[in-house]
Amino acid sequence: MRASRTAETFDTKLKSRAAKVNAAMAETLLDCRDVHTRLAQAMKYVLEGPGKRLRAAMVLWCCELVSGGVDNDALTAAVAIEMVHCYSLVHDDLPAMDDDDLRRGRPTCHIEFDEATAILTGDALMTYAFELLATKVSDARKSVRLVAELARAAGPAGMVGGQMGDLEGEGTEGNLQMLEWIHTNKTAKMFQASCRMGAICGGASEEIVDALGRYGLKTGLAFQICDDILDVSATSRDIGKTAGKDARQGKMTYPAVVGLQQSEALLNKLTAEAVEQLDGLGSRTDDLRTLAMVLTERRK
Ligand code: IPE
Ligand code: IPE
Ligand code: MG
Ligand code: MG
Ligand code: MG
Repeated sequence: MRASRTAETFDTKLKSRAAKVNAAMAETLLDCRDVHTRLAQAMKYVLEGPGKRLRAAMVLWCCELVSGGVDNDALTAAVAIEMVHCYSLVHDDLPAMDDDDLRRGRPTCHIEFDEATAILTGDALMTYAFELLATKVSDARKSVRLVAELARAAGPAGMVGGQMGDLEGEGTEGNLQMLEWIHTNKTAKMFQASCRMGAICGGASEEIVDALGRYGLKTGLAFQICDDILDVSATSRDIGKTAGKDARQGKMTYPAVVGLQQSEALLNKLTAEAVEQLDGLGSRTDDLRTLAMVLTERRK
């Protein structure tokens, strides 16, 4: 009873952050003038898809934890990382990559539009995210730091590199070490960046930025393990994308390499380690603790 009430209250909190991010994204799209009509339509289609907005919510939560509130800079950072995440999904779904036709319960961008438009939409979302960080953040030093954090996490030594490893790993047996490297790069570093960016927006010390980053990295790795588990255990209807695809494509996933039971054990271990990183960060860490726990039980 108590646990479900906690989850319910938490769900409301997550939804309120997601709503803030959605409103800020809609406003940002209105600002996006002089854009080719078809490209603008595709960008809107992708951004309006019913994503969980987790990375963006983590930016806001980390900023709140540090400063007690959320300002426009944090909202800009949240929108920027969500845009980069959306771009990564559009490209991830392309025929040359995971070749998926369902995303967030709707046709993927290349199915709804076409492949070239999907490639360009991803490019547009990524570059626009950096334009926002460069032009809308109030303080120049903060702006440069946020640009660097997001670029590092999304770039060659982060998400893009991880995606390369993921594709190269297809059809190979792999091992736990390779798998941890792929998942850390393709997914966890974006979670780490979300937390670091939120902390930077809130004016945190380096020490706190690092601690929240460690929380994000562990939560992010746990999140991708859970994504792998859901691919084998949930339905396409639940997850809004094609279930059972990883095995068909010979992806190197946690269930494939260590089995379901061990995957779940690792998921729980990482979550406990994530939560430990919050020790000593004061009294406003409750929501981040709950978030890490709730993510282990997610069904979509
Ligand atoms: C999907 O991320 C891609 C992974 C890294 C597993 P999410 O599960 O956060 O996707 P949305 O944004 O809610 O659709
Ligand atoms: C995606 O991993 C990671 C990204 C960087 C987009 P997956 O390929 O497992 O994500 P889904 O299952 O398609 O959402
Ligand atoms: Mg993929
Ligand atoms: Mg995929
Ligand atoms: Mg997946």
